[in-house]
Amino acid sequence: MSYLKLHWQDGVPYNPVYGDVYYSAQGGIEETRHVFIQGNNLIERFAVTERSFSIFETGFGTGLNFVATVRAFLDAAEDGVSLDYVSIEKHLLHPDDIASIAQRFPELADEFAELLRGYPEPVSGWHRIALFDNRVRLTLLIGDIEDLIDDVRIRVDAWFLDGFSPSQNHAMWSHRLFASMADNSHTATSFATYTVAGDVRRGLQAAGFSIQKVPGFGSKREMLTGRYQSDNRQSVLPWFELPVKQEATEKVVAIVGAGIAGLTTAMQFSQRGWKILLIDAERQIAAGASGNPSGLVLPRLSMDDERDSFFDLQALMFARQCYQQLQQNSDEPFWFPSGVECGFDPRKADKLLAIDFLQPVLRQSAETELTADYSWLCNRYAGWLRPQRCCQAIYQRCSDSITLIHDTVTDVRRVEQGIELLGEGDRHIAQASHVVIANAGDVDKIAGVGEFPVSRARGQLSGIPAACCGEPAHVPLSAESYSTPAYEGMFYAGASYDESDDRGLSQRDHDDNMAKLARLQPWLKLAAAELNGRVSFRANSLDRVPVVGAVHDVSFFEQVYHDLRHGKRAGLYPGAQHIAGLYINVAHGARGLTSAFLSAEIIVSLVEATPVPVAGSILDHLNPARFMIKRLKRAKRCTD
Ligand SMILES: Cc1cc2nc3c(=O)[nH]c(=O)nc-3n(C[C@H](O)[C@H](O)[C@H](O)COP(=O)(O)OP(=O)(O)OC[C@H]3O[C@@H](n4cnc5c(N)ncnc54)[C@H](O)[C@@H]3O)c2cc1C
Ligand SMILES: C[S@@+](CC[C@H](N)C(=O)[O-])C[C@H]1O[C@@H](n2cnc3c(N)ncnc32)[C@H](O)[C@@H]1O
Repeated sequence: MSYLKLHWQDGVPYNPVYGDVYYSAQGGIEETRHVFIQGNNLIERFAVTERSFSIFETGFGTGLNFVATVRAFLDAAEDGVSLDYVSIEKHLLHPDDIASIAQRFPELADEFAELLRGYPEPVSGWHRIALFDNRVRLTLLIGDIEDLIDDVRIRVDAWFLDGFSPSQNHAMWSHRLFASMADNSHTATSFATYTVAGDVRRGLQAAGFSIQKVPGFGSKREMLTGRYQSDNRQSVLPWFELPVKQEATEKVVAIVGAGIAGLTTAMQFSQRGWKILLIDAERQIAAGASGNPSGLVLPRLSMDDERDSFFDLQALMFARQCYQQLQQNSDEPFWFPSGVECGFDPRKADKLLAIDFLQPVLRQSAETELTADYSWLCNRYAGWLRPQRCCQAIYQRCSDSITLIHDTVTDVRRVEQGIELLGEGDRHIAQASHVVIANAGDVDKIAGVGEFPVSRARGQLSGIPAACCGEPAHVPLSAESYSTPAYEGMFYAGASYDESDDRGLSQRDHDDNMAKLARLQPWLKLAAAELNGRVSFRANSLDRVPVVGAVHDVSFFEQVYHDLRHGKRAGLYPGAQHIAGLYINVAHGARGLTSAFLSAEIIVSLVEATPVPVAGSILDHLNPARFMIKRLKRAKRCTD
């Protein structure tokens, strides 16, 4: 996918394919204010909003509606209230075009500048961008509305319907859109649109919206506004329903585990004004796998389940932004967005070449030629990280909000005022209204969290002094093993994989790492290298997908969903119940440096009941209850 080059006609942005303009020639901002802001009564609603407000727009286009709405929101809403603006766009405009549009609206210069700072790469899928210190979150769904709209699971307060003219742009005014609007609306949800087209009116009415014709903007005599009339349950599988929001009198969350999963969760909470009790069994942060000296930030592009690739890719794009921001605020280099050269099975390479950000690797010098056993493609959005340093940077960034507690949690218990965390011998450690368990492969050592099929896999990285073995590759390489470029004279290769519990370095693993490195970089002279290294443990779930979300109530699930295997209609079951305030963020496997930030953002969005940054199917894919549901669906009759 690539950016769309903008056309102009009579001084306004124009799309020749749809034969329509992006905004009115009679005044872009005035049109937004009249049709969408006033049409949804937003100034009054922003002023009385207590926590957060959510808008869903069809057609992001130039971003003018977005920036004008942000301005109105920042002027009208109380401090501490946040805006979630979700928008769909199939033909993402080039940032240079957005910049030239911005010049025409100097009164919105700050808002356009913030938008451009986080403007996404042209990669399909969901992108989340935080603006104005996280008071505004933009979620851009890049792709065709027809592919995306059925998978939206968001509680929307106001809809902006802004496709091109319905006669030219049917997909943006379809019955599927109206059905999804109904699914994601509540009784106070409003909509506004510039059109009064009969099909749109009838479609919205049939979906359950009241309709009002009101004066339109400029040459348009009339426009439509209205409200959703009923309060239905989203058509989600009941066992995957979102948790009920727990009000927090004080915004304090306890997080167990100070690796990258716990720290990114702490960072996302701190950006939303929470205080964090961060508890780790070790004396320093990042003492587990996240303390490695080096690692790849690289998505898994799975051919088996496309949800793996969707999640990983989206996680990568979100992580890149977070790493970049953290790096900007730190003198110590830790994030290197260099791209990663990946060796794929040649039989799969053709399919992968269809992914436009994977480009064939061409080497200038025969001396550093990569092995022909693989097809080499460079993932240009990937990179490499010094995780230990990055974790320090995250901690420093939000240390004002964090109280670090050195202790080992053995039990979590629901009490009247929230959740209590206990140590050995029922010793009180902490209590909070919300708790996130982020202790990787040790989740089974905490009673009260429930059972999750998560296991540990030992891994050893080998550190090699660069000077003694020729010139190591300047770009990270990944095939059956991986290597990262040299930093301060050392580079790393790995990582071994076994199921033992041994924390000590093993010569056999070093030998194995070196043998694999020799296949990756055959030009290196490794025989004389004096190695060092680090051993740590990955946490893998049974299906190799992270476990992220609210913790379900096991006894409720056993009781209510026990007969799932009989294939009764899902709609006949009541919605899921969860352990109020308890969340989990574990099992990042060998990709935690990619998956941690987006997983953290999912958790915080669930806790605050604000729009999640991923599609509903991805939420289900990560849902901690999925293992239990699979088991109940498979359970044999005789176990009744
Ligand atoms: C050798 C190796 C190489 C890797 N390479 C890469 C790579 O290149 N790219 C990539 O993306 N990923 C890589 N990974 C995986 C990545 O390191 C992990 O996915 C990531 O670090 C997981 O972070 P985490 O916070 O979930 O776990 P951890 O970093 O392990 O943190 C868990 C924390 O929980 C604490 N804890 C545990 N139990 C308790 C308790 N009961 N009470 C209090 N605290 C507790 C621990 O002390 C620990 O600090 C690699 C892993 C290994 C082992
Ligand atoms: C009228 S413009 C939106 C103007 C925009 N709200 C603004 O503030 O500039 C309509 C937008 O819908 C987008 N669009 C058209 N068909 C689409 C589709 N099938 N899926 C998603 N977006 C689509 C267009 O690319 C265009 O950006």
